[in-house]
Amino acid sequence: MAEAILARQVVKSFGQVHALQGLDFDLHPGECFGLLGPSGAGKSTMVGLVCCISPIDAGQLKVLGMDTQSHCRRIRSRLGLVPQHDNLDPSLSVLDNLVFYGGYFGMPRSQAKTRAEELLHFVALDDRATEPIDHLSAALRKRLLIARGLINSPDLLILDEPTTGLDPQARQHIWQRLRQLKKAGTTMLLCTHSTDESKQLCDRLAILNSGRLLPEGMPSA
Ligand SMILES: Nc1ncnc2c1ncn2[C@@H]1O[C@H](COP(=O)(O)OP(=O)(O)OP(=O)(O)O)[C@@H](O)[C@H]1O
Ligand SMILES: [Mg+2]
Repeated sequence: MAEAILARQVVKSFGQVHALQGLDFDLHPGECFGLLGPSGAGKSTMVGLVCCISPIDAGQLKVLGMDTQSHCRRIRSRLGLVPQHDNLDPSLSVLDNLVFYGGYFGMPRSQAKTRAEELLHFVALDDRATEPIDHLSAALRKRLLIARGLINSPDLLILDEPTTGLDPQARQHIWQRLRQLKKAGTTMLLCTHSTDESKQLCDRLAILNSGRLLPEGMPSA
């Protein structure tokens, strides 16, 4: 089976800012791989490249066996993204945020609704389904973003700071759900500045600092 992510000497700059300076790593199917690094390290930049939100400048980046320079649509259709910054639709209810998102993947409404209900149950938001988004706390919105990221049953789930800014209890709630996903075999890329979070969830991790990776290790190392 192809690597979920294969990154070779990946380079990305924004003008004079050299955000990624030659990243090499593999993410194997079925594992949770962590990119751990401080603010400004380049984690979200990497997420943007993997999700084909922006192109690489140099190197090679394959996602689910497909090159990001030639297969963006197919890659996007098989990915789930939990973005760092909340981009839920404030004009839609909790449930409809998921149902409409399913539409982007070509899911018929009835199928999207069934899946959305399952996912709201998974993140324990079933009793909030008809409420507007602005009734939800930051922690509940994160849970909804995780549910949304799963709507298309992705082959790779990308989590960009899934618990940043949340209180310990809210973090534990999300970690528990992510552990469940992991147990079910979901392949995950977890970007975080939290050593604790990476230890809790990752099988392997690499430390990213100023656009460069330090050698990989086990979370306990
Ligand atoms: N669109 C952009 N235009 C200009 N500079 C950018 C852009 N996106 C990112 N950068 C710069 O690239 C570097 C890496 O940013 P990035 O957001 O990838 O870091 P990060 O590790 O995700 O940080 P954080 O933990 O704060 O989310 C930073 O210096 C940032 O200012
Ligand atoms: Mg970031």
